[in-house]
Amino acid sequence: TGAGVLLLSAPPSSAAAAVGIDPGSIAKYVLKMPVLPDLRPHGASITTDYYRMTMEEAYREVIPGFQTKVNTYNGHFPGPVINAWSGRRVVITQTNRLGVPTSVHLHGAHVPSSSDGGPMDLIAPGGGTKTYTYPNKQAHANLWFHDHAHHLESETVFRGLTGTYLLRDEVEARLGLPSGQYDIPLSVRDARFDDSGQFLFQMDDFFNRQVVLTNGKAWPYFEVAARKYRFRIFNTANLRSFQFALADNSPFTLIGTDGGLLAAPYTTQSVLLSPGERADIVIDFSRYPVGTELELRNIIPQAPGTPPDVSQVLQFRVTRTERDHSVVPAKLRTLPALPPATVERSFSLLMDESSPEPAWAYINGKEYDPDRVDTTIAYDTTEIWTVTNANKIAPHNFHIHLVQFRVLERNGVAVTEGAESGLKDTVFLRAGETVKLQATFTGYRGVYLYHCHLFDHASMGMMAQMEVV
Ligand code: C2O
Ligand code: CU
Repeated sequence: TGAGVLLLSAPPSSAAAAVGIDPGSIAKYVLKMPVLPDLRPHGASITTDYYRMTMEEAYREVIPGFQTKVNTYNGHFPGPVINAWSGRRVVITQTNRLGVPTSVHLHGAHVPSSSDGGPMDLIAPGGGTKTYTYPNKQAHANLWFHDHAHHLESETVFRGLTGTYLLRDEVEARLGLPSGQYDIPLSVRDARFDDSGQFLFQMDDFFNRQVVLTNGKAWPYFEVAARKYRFRIFNTANLRSFQFALADNSPFTLIGTDGGLLAAPYTTQSVLLSPGERADIVIDFSRYPVGTELELRNIIPQAPGTPPDVSQVLQFRVTRTERDHSVVPAKLRTLPALPPATVERSFSLLMDESSPEPAWAYINGKEYDPDRVDTTIAYDTTEIWTVTNANKIAPHNFHIHLVQFRVLERNGVAVTEGAESGLKDTVFLRAGETVKLQATFTGYRGVYLYHCHLFDHASMGMMAQMEVV
C-alpha cells in the first residue's frame, strides 16, 4: 500500500501465515508476571563485582499449559538482572553451553571494544568462555545485554538471549523515586509458537509474531498496591515496536529513556518503543480502587487509520492499599552539555521490500562486512549524523555502540521535549523519516558497530563498523 508509512514491517507473506498456535486461543492474564531475578556476584573486591553466567537451554512455561524450549542466561528466561553502580567495575565470565557460537553485547554501555561483544568476537558452543569487563564509567542508565553473533543473533535472541543491566548512580538514588519492590523492569517482546508450543522462528516474520511476552510470560497479570510504581520498560522484540498506553488512557509520567533520566518528568498518555529502546515510567495506581483491573496496551496502528494487530500486553490488578513515600521530583538531572560538532555524516538505511523474503539490507548501499571499516572517527570528536530510512514501507531504527547520543531533529523539527529529549542509543525511523543525531566519540578507541536494531534486519546485513582512532 502506498500509504504505508506507518507499517511496522514488510507486508505479510501469505505462504507463511497461519501456521502454529493461534494467538487468539491463548488464555490471557492467567500466568503471573515474574519479577526478573537479581543475579548475585560470586565475588567482589574494592573496585569490582565478579559474576558468572552460563548460556544454556531450558524448558519454561511461556504460554499456559506448554513447556517451551528457551535459551537462558543461568536458567532464566529472559536473563537475570545485573545491578551495577556507576564507577564500580563489573566483570562477567560467560560460558556458552548452547549449540551455536554466541557473543554478549551490553547495549547502551560505554565499554572497551574488546568487551563490546562484536559479531565476530565469538564464544564457542559446547562450553567456550569469555570474560567481559564493564568499567561502568558512565551515568545511571537502563542497559541490557543480548547475543550479537552475526547472522545468528536474530534467532538466539528470539529464543531468549536477553538480560537486564541496571546501572545506578547517586544522582538517581537520591531523588526518592519508587524503589525496591516498587521498581520493576519489564522486558516486553513478541513471539510465535508452533502447535506443540515451541518457538517458531522465521527470518523477518513480523506479522506472525503476535504473542506478547512480558518477563517471559504470555499476557501475564501483575498485582500492585494502590500507589506509585516505577516500570523500566525494555523493548526486547526482534522487529515489533510497541506504543504503550493504559487502557483507560490515563496519563503516566515518563522519567527516563535509553541513557537514563530525562531532565524533567514528562506527562504523557503513551510511549513508543522500537526494538532496543527503553522507557522509564511511573504509574500512580492510587487513583484506582482496590479490585481494579487495568490493561497495559499496545496502541500502535499497523497502518494509518487501522487498529493495532496486537493490542493486549499485560494486566495490572490493584489488590491492596499501601503507604507511599516515593516522589517524582520536578527536576531529575542535568543533561550533559552539547559540545560543538565538527564533523557531519549521512547514513541511509535501505532493505529489499520487493519480496516477502528480503534478499538484502544495506547501510549506505553496503551489507555488513566484518573486514571493512565503514567510518573512521577521530578520538574525542563530536559529530552530527543524519540518518534516513530510505524504504517506502519498512520501518528501521538506528543504534550506535559506545555512545549515548542526542536526537537534535526529527524530520527537520527540533526535538525539545519528551521521549527523545534525553540521552539515547537507539532511535526509531519509520519509512521515509530522517533524524539528526549528535554524539561525542570518546573514552575508548577501537572498532564498534552501528546498525538497525530490528534484529532480523541486522542479521540480514543492515549493520556497519566505525573505528575510533
Ligand atoms: Cu542492542 Cu549492536 O545492539
Ligand atoms: Cu531495519
